[in-house]
Amino acid sequence: MIRDDRLPRDAQSILELAARSMFDLFAHASEGMLLVDRKARVVWINDQYRRFLPALGFEREEDFVGHPVSSVVQNTQMHQVLATGKPILIDLLTNKAGTFVVSRIPLRDDAGEVIGVLGIVLFDHPETTLQPLIAKFARLEQDLNDARRELASQRRTKYTFASFVGTSPGALEVKRQARRAASSSSPVLLLGETGTGKELLAHAIHAASPRAGRPFVSVNMAAVPDTLLEAEFFGVAPGAYTGADKKGRDGKFKLADGGTLFLDELGDMPMSVQVKLLRALQEGEIEPLGSNRLLRFDVRVVAATSRDLAQLVRDGLFREDLYYRLNVLPVRVPPLRERRDDIPLLIETLCEDIAARGAGQQLELQDGARALLAAQPWRGNIRELRNVLEQLALRSDSPQISAQQVEAVLLGSGLDRIEPAAAAAQPAPASAPETDLRPLPEQVAELEQRAIAAALQRCGGNRAAAARLLGISRASLYDKLAATSGPSGVSEIQTIVH
Ligand SMILES: Nc1ncnc2c1ncn2[C@@H]1O[C@H](COP(=O)(O)OP(=O)(O)O)[C@@H](O)[C@H]1O
Ligand SMILES: [Mg+2]
Repeated sequence: MIRDDRLPRDAQSILELAARSMFDLFAHASEGMLLVDRKARVVWINDQYRRFLPALGFEREEDFVGHPVSSVVQNTQMHQVLATGKPILIDLLTNKAGTFVVSRIPLRDDAGEVIGVLGIVLFDHPETTLQPLIAKFARLEQDLNDARRELASQRRTKYTFASFVGTSPGALEVKRQARRAASSSSPVLLLGETGTGKELLAHAIHAASPRAGRPFVSVNMAAVPDTLLEAEFFGVAPGAYTGADKKGRDGKFKLADGGTLFLDELGDMPMSVQVKLLRALQEGEIEPLGSNRLLRFDVRVVAATSRDLAQLVRDGLFREDLYYRLNVLPVRVPPLRERRDDIPLLIETLCEDIAARGAGQQLELQDGARALLAAQPWRGNIRELRNVLEQLALRSDSPQISAQQVEAVLLGSGLDRIEPAAAAAQPAPASAPETDLRPLPEQVAELEQRAIAAALQRCGGNRAAAARLLGISRASLYDKLAATSGPSGVSEIQTIVH
């Protein structure tokens, strides 16, 4: 074996050789070097560095060398290396002269004290020399921006009040209440059967509220496993768990900050989470899991449930204090069978939407088909009506739909009972409650009394405010109060007015 005796064998000599070689490499291969002293003044530059002076704005070397580095090189980090004694091995520096890949190395005396910093410009024009890397970086940045935009648009509300189709008194009333709720910052509680449009209204309330420009974030109690709900709401601090969540995760409260948090299927919330939710709402603060810091949040809560919350409270399944906290602005969303007048318009709108999404032809329902649909009990409400129309669109070869086709789909769709279309034409169902058969003036008077009592209660007994709320003059409110007869109405109102 031939030994090459020109190479040193002892560590010290190897290091010295390596250091000299690396320095030579840097000195020749680099695009320039500059040295600053411990006061961060430029004391030396090499020939290559001199080329940058005009671009940095200096004609003569003496205008550059001898001056504080921060006053002659914008965005320099040399003082940071002086302060910490730690090298910055690779960095991008952008200033008047362009963008550079730079390296900064502290220089120490024999006692180990930092006496200066050597700055090395490794490449200029990194956009060409580091092209693959920079292109990848730009691509990732672009992807990140796209993802952020996508997320933001998903969080933006999908529906406004205009999306809530219906002109029946029931539909107009629910829209009126929800509109009024939109301008308040109190919690809203949407109560109604499944498929009545509670989620749609939650979106619309947000979109009409002063928080419209901020996020709308939903949590569905029925869709998230109980064990994960707490983390879902409050988030997880970094390092609280190993594995996927190691980096920590923001909770929905944080994500909804400044906006609206929609608690869907509130009645399905487990007791353990109810306690924590109540505390969060009372304090206006949350504590992410595994963190000992409290985060303040500013969130407007809209909750919805198809369950009878008051009954759940009585059964000990829902906390009474949380119920009162959320039941500030209750809005009852009527089931479809209480507003059958809206069915034709809903059929029209839903068919348009189904055609637009499926790119098929829009269905045209024959009169008999419409009448049959209008007669159904619709326990699943608008969601169920929509499903039936979707089925019809899928099953039928022609856009013309007959009553027989509707009947076939209804039979197959699991409706517990099919009402024949003729029933829809009857003025009042035989099972109409007894109360609806009393003289109309009596019913109207009773309704007025109830409305006045409710308005007075809402306004803490303030008659002027109650009159405004009811949309009548103060004088006519006094008239109605004076005219109130019958023991129940009077006593009820008087106890509130005092
Ligand atoms: N008044 C309405 N006008 C038009 N579409 C409605 C209306 N109410 C509900 N929908 C539609 O019915 C479906 C169910 O509504 P959703 O808001 O999810 O009901 P809920 O939350 O009460 O179960 C959705 O596709 C929704 O867009
Ligand atoms: Mg829902």
